[in-house]
Amino acid sequence: MLTVEVTAPTNIALVKYWGKHPKYQWLFIPTKSSVSFTLSSFFARTRLTVDAGNGGIDFTLNGQKANKGSSEFEYVESFFERIFSNYQFARKYSYCIESQNNFPTAAGFASSAAGFSALAFAFALAMSKVNIMDSLDDKTVSIVARLGSGSAARSIPSNGGMVIWHRGYDKASKATLVSKASYAETLYPPSHFAELAIICVKVSSEEKKIRSRAGMEESVRSVYDYWQWVEYEESTLLPLLLNAAKRKKWQALFKLTKQASNNFHSVCLRTTPPMIYLSDRSREIIEAIQFLPYAAYTFDAGPNAVVITLKDKTEEVEGLLKNIAGKHSTVVSGIGNGPREVRP
Ligand code: PMV
Repeated sequence: MLTVEVTAPTNIALVKYWGKHPKYQWLFIPTKSSVSFTLSSFFARTRLTVDAGNGGIDFTLNGQKANKGSSEFEYVESFFERIFSNYQFARKYSYCIESQNNFPTAAGFASSAAGFSALAFAFALAMSKVNIMDSLDDKTVSIVARLGSGSAARSIPSNGGMVIWHRGYDKASKATLVSKASYAETLYPPSHFAELAIICVKVSSEEKKIRSRAGMEESVRSVYDYWQWVEYEESTLLPLLLNAAKRKKWQALFKLTKQASNNFHSVCLRTTPPMIYLSDRSREIIEAIQFLPYAAYTFDAGPNAVVITLKDKTEEVEGLLKNIAGKHSTVVSGIGNGPREVRP
């Protein structure tokens, strides 16, 4: 028997992942590359106990045992099924997982990113300790994490900071090559962004109505210009945003981030049936921030906002956000590092 314990951060996408490529659906290959900041204040802590067995899973989330048949259990179970088909040896063990988030699950703060990256990292760590998985490098572990939840891949690189998850395919790609090419890596470490602060705004702690996985499938299927959006972001918006980040042109980075968030929610709204993740409060936040040259908002599949601003504007921007969402609605986070092993 072996126990490992790890922490892994969540991340907030500036350029979103929203859809798997239909040709590589089972490999979790995204239709486009995505880029995120690794958040230092929101993380999952996971203890994994591995014993001899035949692939059995026991899963406790935030102190509550997940029952077989619940959506949480099914997510983890199907993750392990994908792991077993890629790493046959892993089926010879049983897995007891105890995971805790320090923020609301399924409310738009990419809890799945932290949870699955912690689990993927713990799994790889445990397998390396029993000497049956030799590479614990970011690339390999991000590929494992991708099989659990796409956005989790971006929480894996140990240097954190700004991370890109490459979509990994072009027209001529073969599935086997794509799987290895669709991984995450750090573009710039946290120190590159010393002038920036991130304000997370809790608008609601309700569970989201439509899970990302089901929602994105509907978008790929039903949005008439879905592939135009994908190619625009891949070939135009993403390179512009990366160039702004490289040259520390924050105003441009903020503008492109707001644009990418708006484009994403426009895709959600134009999905059949429509997915409206933003609430009236979210809309008020958009209106307050949209013309500020020193701040950007971004929203995932939920009403909560993540606002990126200059460190020396934090107080002003946080004040604006508190007026809208309430006195205790904000948490300021830094841009941090990737997963770590901690003492059980
Ligand atoms: O990783 P998933 O399957 O929970 O999808 C994440 C989707 C978004 O959070 C909306 C965007 C992103 O890139 O994180």
